[in-house]
Parts: sequence; structure tokens; C-alpha cells
Amino acid sequence: MDFNALVTQIESVAQGIDTEIQNISSDADLEAVRIKYLGRKGLFAEFTSFIPSVPQESRGKIGQKVNFLKDRIGVLLEERKRQLGVVAPPQEKISLDISMPGMGQAVGRRHPLTQTIDEICAIFVQMGFTVKEGPEIETEFNNFTGLNIPLEHPSRDAFDTFYLESKERLLLRSHTSPGQVRVMKSRTPPLAVVVPGRVYRPDAVDASHSFMFHQIEGLVVDRDIKFSDLKGTLEVFVKAVFGDDIAMRFRPHFFPFTEPSAEVDISCIMCKGKGCSVCGRKGWLEILGSGMIHPQVFAHVGYPSGAYTGFAFGLGIERIAMLKYGITDIRLFFENDLRFLTQF
Ligand code: PHE
Repeated sequence: MDFNALVTQIESVAQGIDTEIQNISSDADLEAVRIKYLGRKGLFAEFTSFIPSVPQESRGKIGQKVNFLKDRIGVLLEERKRQLGVVAPPQEKISLDISMPGMGQAVGRRHPLTQTIDEICAIFVQMGFTVKEGPEIETEFNNFTGLNIPLEHPSRDAFDTFYLESKERLLLRSHTSPGQVRVMKSRTPPLAVVVPGRVYRPDAVDASHSFMFHQIEGLVVDRDIKFSDLKGTLEVFVKAVFGDDIAMRFRPHFFPFTEPSAEVDISCIMCKGKGCSVCGRKGWLEILGSGMIHPQVFAHVGYPSGAYTGFAFGLGIERIAMLKYGITDIRLFFENDLRFLTQF
């Protein structure tokens, strides 16, 4: 290569190099171009090797040109490399319109039965009761025997109680009254306790029956508890739940674990006692069972004979909630339909 050929070649490289490097689209091509020009056997190694044969007076100028172009190629390759690395796969554009309404969070709420249980417990807590829960799986003793329910009583029948397949004759409690037995076995009076919870009975399901429902048991035991204490306590409760103008009456009844026993009715909250379809034209609605604790129950829990008196009551939560909210089908509580649940 003579001097003129060298100059021509340098100039043609200088002219085309920008486009050549800009057209590179992969790391492999980038490396190939680098080797072609800057490699140990590349074009610039060749140029440099010619410089000594260039006439003395032009050597400096040519050397400058070569070095300038060499540096420039280095810079262009670096730049292209950065561009190739930065160009990430096409990304979805995220646009934010701050004038759009936000996405509302659905707010959860407590189940109407839970609300009713909490409300009723709060009324009794205000009167000095404590709240104690018991297990849903119970012994035959706590559910029946301790409550003075005789062996031949129909409620013990497998048609009326769910028994578990166990040697100990365990069962699903058929009422919350075993809560009385548990509390009295573990504590000495004075006692004022409410026991809310689920209970189970093998009933055919319809608008007013469910094989599982909820009760709250109430229990007060001390040295001189009278029937009038039961009456006063329930009166405060009924007025707090249904309002001051609700009338209440006690109807003699029978429970093996209370003596005397009574069922409590309130004046119909729909017709105010005149008689309607909700109260079956009677003007009264039955809401709970109650009575003075039977001495035999005290004996079963190991209290000394004659030492204490007390009262107990048991009320159905679903019944109270249905009356309070005008719900006509008990199944609605257990279907978890949000159209129903969000109304409370
Ligand atoms: N356990 C009774 C029932 O389920 C209700 C009750 C409780 C009655 C306490 C008297 C005293 O029907």
C-alpha cells in the first residue's frame, strides 16, 4: 500500500463508519466489527504498520488521522453497545388518569347473627354478667344427666340429638344449657354468666327450622336469688332489644333442670298484640325458656345442698334476629348470599 492508497482507505473508513456501527443490531455483530477494525490483525493494526513507510513529513499527520479515527470507532462502538443493552423488550405503556374515580374496596361486615349475639351479650355485660363459651362437642353428662334430664327423656333420643361415633357417647350439644353445668362445675357462686354458641338438632330444614342454630344461655347463682330477679333481668333485656313499649309475660312450663319453669312471651312486635300472621293471631311471641335452677342440678355439679339458689334462661338467637329484622326464613342466615348479608 502506498501513501495515497492509505489516505484513501482511511477516508473511506471515516465516511462509512457511523452508518456501519449504527446498523449493528446484535452483540455478536458488534464484536465482529470491533475485531475487523480494532482487532490485533484488524485494519488499524495494518494502518499503523504502514506508518513507518510514510514519508517523514506526512507521518505525523497520518498518525493523527489514524489515532483520531481509531478513538472515534471505539467511542461509537461503546455507544452502540449501550443502546443495544438499554433497548429492553417493548413495554406496555402505563398511563395514569388521576381524574378517574378510584376502585372502591368492598368492606366486610359482621354476620347478622354475630351482630345479634354481640348486642345481646353487651346488654347482659352491662348488668354485670361475664361471657363464657363452651365446646360444641359435649358429653352426655353435661348435655343431659347433669341437667336432671332423665334417661328416658325423648330429647336424648337419636332422633333429637346428634351422637358422635365414640365410646364415650359424645354428642353435638342440643342446647347451650351444658354451659350451666360447665360453669358451675368450675366455679363457686356468686355467678352471673352468659354462654352464646351453636347448637344442633336433627330437625328437617324448613323456613323456621335448621339442624344448627344459636342460643344464649344465662345463669345466675348466689345465696338469695329469687324468681323476681329472673323477671327483672329479662325485663331489662327485652326492653333493651325490642323497645320500652314491649309487654312481657311468663307462662308456666316444664324443663327438667328448672323448677319452677316458665316460657317468656313478648307482645307481638308486628301487630303490638292485636293478632297477626307473625304471632298466629295470638298477639304474643314466645322468645325464651327459663326457670329457677333445680336442686338436683346443684347436686350434680357438687354444690352443697340448700346453699344456693339461682335462675337460668335460654333464648334462640335466630328467632330474636328474625323478629327484630322481619326475616321470615331461617335459611337466609346460612346461605351466605351477599344480597342478604349486606343489608345488615
Ligand atoms: N335449654 C332450653 C331449650 O333449649 C332452654 C332453657 C334454658 C330453659 C335454661 C330453662 C333454662 O329449650
